[in-house]
Amino acid sequence: MKILYLADVVGRPGRMMIKHHLKKIKEAYEIDLVIINAENASHGFGISIKNSKELFAMGIDMMTGGNHSWDKKDILPIMDSEPILRPMNYPSSAPGSGVGYLTVGDENLVVINLMGHFTMPMVDNPFTMIVAEVERLKEEGYENIFIDMHAEATSEKRALMAMLKGKVSAICGSHTHIGTDDMEIDEGTFYVTDVGLTGCRDGVIGMSKKEPMARFLTSISSKFDVPNSCKKILQGMIFELEEGKCIDAFKIKAYDYEEAEVSQRAYIEQ
Ligand SMILES: [Fe+2]
Ligand SMILES: [Fe+2]
Repeated sequence: MKILYLADVVGRPGRMMIKHHLKKIKEAYEIDLVIINAENASHGFGISIKNSKELFAMGIDMMTGGNHSWDKKDILPIMDSEPILRPMNYPSSAPGSGVGYLTVGDENLVVINLMGHFTMPMVDNPFTMIVAEVERLKEEGYENIFIDMHAEATSEKRALMAMLKGKVSAICGSHTHIGTDDMEIDEGTFYVTDVGLTGCRDGVIGMSKKEPMARFLTSISSKFDVPNSCKKILQGMIFELEEGKCIDAFKIKAYDYEEAEVSQRAYIEQ
């Protein structure tokens, strides 16, 4: 199966890029499933019911989240019934689930959303939880497992790869909004530290540059905002899985409304 994953989709500019590009990308690369991280999809903070419906109608199969999963309160009651995940290591009293299941024909894909600790809200230990969860899934016969590791620290993401290499199909990082170029496939596990945002490329992590600049110049914080008009980018990882192993993975990028192009292929360790 071929999966397209977009990390943090930021605000209306991000949604516009999906609306313009997704159908063409799905056809060109024969994509079976589309997963996005939607924690910033509604004006940079959370995902509303209205925007989730729009995105599902554009061809999204599942949404993951992160520390901003809770910012739009209307979504919370439907997180148990819609394919909208939040990190699994939030306390069990939090709405929704961190583990989702998708199918392509007679093949399954398990999608897991996990969150790191550094600079993040207090949550349960992602590492002990995920090791036990992967063991449970394997015992139940699941082969294809994809993890969205939502974390600030590159070391937490890298350590996750060290723990799960050969045991899961793919680990993609999200949260920093900045893409990294360390794509590799090792023992059948695809890994990238962060896919990077889809949205404005000329601000600061998808937001208007005005507030972050003022914050750093004055040490007084104000709320970040998504600009109405900006230069945009779409960044997506496409990875192909066969019997639980990743056999090929590459990144695609689209600048504004130019055609999406392959920017880098994952290095395959022998
Ligand atoms: Fe984000
Ligand atoms: Fe985040």
